[in-house]
Amino acid sequence: MADPKENVQMEKIVSLCKRRGFIFQSSEIYGGINGFWDYGPLGAELKRNVKELWWHAMTRQREDVVGLEATIIMSPAIWKASGHVDTFSDPMIDCKTCKGRFRADQTDEIPCPQKPSKCVNDCHGEKTAPRAFNLMFQTFVGPVQDDSAIAYLRPETAQAIFAQFKNVLETSRQKVPFGIAQTGKAFRNEVTPRNYTFRSREFEQMELEFFIKPDEAVEAIHGSVASVPTTGHPGEPQSNWGWQAWHQYWVEERVRFYEGIGLNRTTLAFHRQTPEELAHYARACVDILFKFPFSKRDEQGELKGEELEGIAARSDFDLSQHARFSGKPMGVFDDELRAAWGKLPKEKSDDLWRRYYDNRKRYLEKSGVAPEAAAKQATEDANGLAKGQYVPHVIEPSAGVDRLILALIANAYSETSKTDEKGKTETNVVLRFHPRVAPIKVGVLPLLKNKPELVAKALAVRDLLRPWMNVYYDDGGSIGRRYARQDEAGTPFCVTIDFDSLGEKPELLNTVTIRHRDDGRQERVAISDLVNWLLPQIR
Ligand code: GAP
Repeated sequence: MADPKENVQMEKIVSLCKRRGFIFQSSEIYGGINGFWDYGPLGAELKRNVKELWWHAMTRQREDVVGLEATIIMSPAIWKASGHVDTFSDPMIDCKTCKGRFRADQTDEIPCPQKPSKCVNDCHGEKTAPRAFNLMFQTFVGPVQDDSAIAYLRPETAQAIFAQFKNVLETSRQKVPFGIAQTGKAFRNEVTPRNYTFRSREFEQMELEFFIKPDEAVEAIHGSVASVPTTGHPGEPQSNWGWQAWHQYWVEERVRFYEGIGLNRTTLAFHRQTPEELAHYARACVDILFKFPFSKRDEQGELKGEELEGIAARSDFDLSQHARFSGKPMGVFDDELRAAWGKLPKEKSDDLWRRYYDNRKRYLEKSGVAPEAAAKQATEDANGLAKGQYVPHVIEPSAGVDRLILALIANAYSETSKTDEKGKTETNVVLRFHPRVAPIKVGVLPLLKNKPELVAKALAVRDLLRPWMNVYYDDGGSIGRRYARQDEAGTPFCVTIDFDSLGEKPELLNTVTIRHRDDGRQERVAISDLVNWLLPQIR
């Protein structure tokens, strides 16, 4: 369990989120619904900023990634091909005494319904044997509710990318290596939603499928596959990169993204999945973890962290599955490979042919294809490689929006205390969001609300900034209280319009004070320079 002190921290965060309108319980007036959360005015802005920054970094800033926006309900055949219908399940157990229902792999952490303050192991009730519980939400498409009408709410956004791979390839003028990015809702009927929004039943994902050449193709074209250091950023993408370099690249790119929105490396941890943890088709998977207040601690007392994002090297499994199940080819033709193959020494081409054959045969057999049929298909696939054809492999950075929002709030949360002359101490919350993600970028405050000239100028400043950023106009209460309100919302800058702005000191006419949230520093800026002053700080 997490340290009690840190649970207090979590309680403070949950209470702030409700009080300031970041996160509300879904359907709260009806008692709520477990595992579902709504985002209030500040939360909605924060979430939108995060998704837009991700979209910007992953697509618009790059030549080699394009976007997709697919439906939530898709053909159920997709979930059969992906393996979700057969294997996307958690082991579930019931307690015969307290009637609680739990994940068999998490019994030490689940509150017992009879003794909510205790964990289920204290209940000592007899448990049923674990049984698989499929996490997909089912629904029916059309008016007849029988088995033929069953459909699923997508449990991940990724599969639509694979299913639309050919359409995107043909319409986007991209060539492997390239990626397809998508953000959107995903649904999982988690047995035990927990840790606030961390494990929800409805959540959002930001996923990239980055398609690459199989290593055998890279080797045929370039003579060898580049070897890169196993730590650190490998630099700008190179045409001789194999899956390892691309995987390392995406792990580091994603860490840069987190650093760029205020989560520095010390707040993160990494978990490289062991061979036992990896899916049979996966070559590697690195999870990026954030050290949440509810994370467990290691032997040294360090928070271990919980998963924000997984970056998986998934081989050619996904496209191969959709090719087999749909009967539609998912391979690409690579003229560079075809030309290079013709010039290879026989020994080299035989070696590459054999390695590709072995990989394809292993995949087919693991997917249940009989050995003879697998050998025949793998032979065709390896002969295809020699003619410039292959099924692209994929690197998949897959992140959760809601977990990131919670991480950003936990990371930003801080308290400041001030003691006045009478010895009275006041504690205020400051959310130290990076200006890029902050829900409100700037508070606009007239010094006094009963001076029409101050109010008119403040409203003009608000209207000047509005087309560029989210602005909050506030004229209620003392200036100190208004600063404190903005600190609690995480607003990085406050602009105050005072008598100098009106020309009381003529040299300060049409200037304003900018107050910095984190250190209270103030500086004077001309109104005409405000947009240009603010924009580089918030983008
Ligand atoms: N396509 C791969 C995939 O979906 P995943 O590890 O199951 O992989 C990716 O999910 C990310 O989605 C996780 O790292 C996490 O951030 C988020 N996620 C998964 N389940 C979630 C849940 N129940 N509640 C909130 N976020 C979740």
